[in-house]
Amino acid sequence: MPIITTSLDHGKSFVTAFANANIALVKYWGKANRDLNIPLVPSISFTLNSLGTFCHVEKSPDEHDHLIIDGQEVDDAALGRFHAFLTYFRSQFSIDERFTITTKNNIPYGAGLASSASAYASMSLGLSHFCHLDLSEKELSLLARVGSASAARSIMGDFVALPGGEALGHRDAFASPIMLQNKPDWQMVIVIGNHQQKALSSREAMTITKQTSPFFDAFVKNSHDDFLGCKDGLITGNLETVGAIMEHSTLKMHASMWAAKPSINYLQPFSLSAIELIKAFRNRFGPVAFFTLDAGPNVKILCEAPIAERLSTHIQEKLPNTTIVCSSLGQKAKILDDRAL
Ligand code: PMV
Repeated sequence: MPIITTSLDHGKSFVTAFANANIALVKYWGKANRDLNIPLVPSISFTLNSLGTFCHVEKSPDEHDHLIIDGQEVDDAALGRFHAFLTYFRSQFSIDERFTITTKNNIPYGAGLASSASAYASMSLGLSHFCHLDLSEKELSLLARVGSASAARSIMGDFVALPGGEALGHRDAFASPIMLQNKPDWQMVIVIGNHQQKALSSREAMTITKQTSPFFDAFVKNSHDDFLGCKDGLITGNLETVGAIMEHSTLKMHASMWAAKPSINYLQPFSLSAIELIKAFRNRFGPVAFFTLDAGPNVKILCEAPIAERLSTHIQEKLPNTTIVCSSLGQKAKILDDRAL
């Protein structure tokens, strides 16, 4: 793949990368290591198609790092996580450079639509190319994970697995694509009823849940069976198996949050309405559509591709204040040639 930048010393050179967001079928929730974002549980995701983050990397004009998200420079107070990521990046690869990083999302940022996954995945790829490191997919996944664990999965395309566990070391916590002989013809239908950035980050919510929820241990204990069952369901192309596990995984995750002290709730009335609509749809048409939610109120529906349009129209009619976006399976993160933001 061609590299756009010529030299780190060239003030005008830049790199633009793009990574798709991903939706977890089996959820990651809870960290074995908070600094390095090592997941406590294994997860599996569906890579979205053409929905994610464009990331433009260039040299900083001064001695500070700058982050501009969707046209707005992020102020110092909100920069902690980004700085920690860049500090890690510089120390790992012996780089002494400050960057201006400009990202543009074509999905709402921070609304539980996995935008931090595509943000840190595109940033990792952009930095790797800008600094001539040309990291392998494994190394990119390890790096992206330090920004956001779900970002480790957005380096790859299609269905992606990320291991997790109390004893997992940094070098073993990287994602890999799940190789399938027959890729199932499924879509993700996303029901967006709220574009606002969430009040409580998934990072804080995970910590509170892990420390205080009596249901968290049950979530962790079940997660390995969910992971293996989902993988089998993908290999056999069985939507009912994958869908049932996916719903169970998200409900356990939210139940553990509800039981935390203080209780954490990301759902809104439209989220519950969408869930009931999907169940009713299933009663009528069989096991063709299943729901999941992340750290936000928006609902994602995994369904057979041929019914995606009918399902979207149905939901739009019943929930007219929502926006519906359909996505097929997407590809791995990539460098976009000579593209400025
Ligand atoms: O990687 P983070 O910190 O954005 O956490 C992602 C957590 C969930 O989206 C709720 C689940 C997942 O596996 O993506």
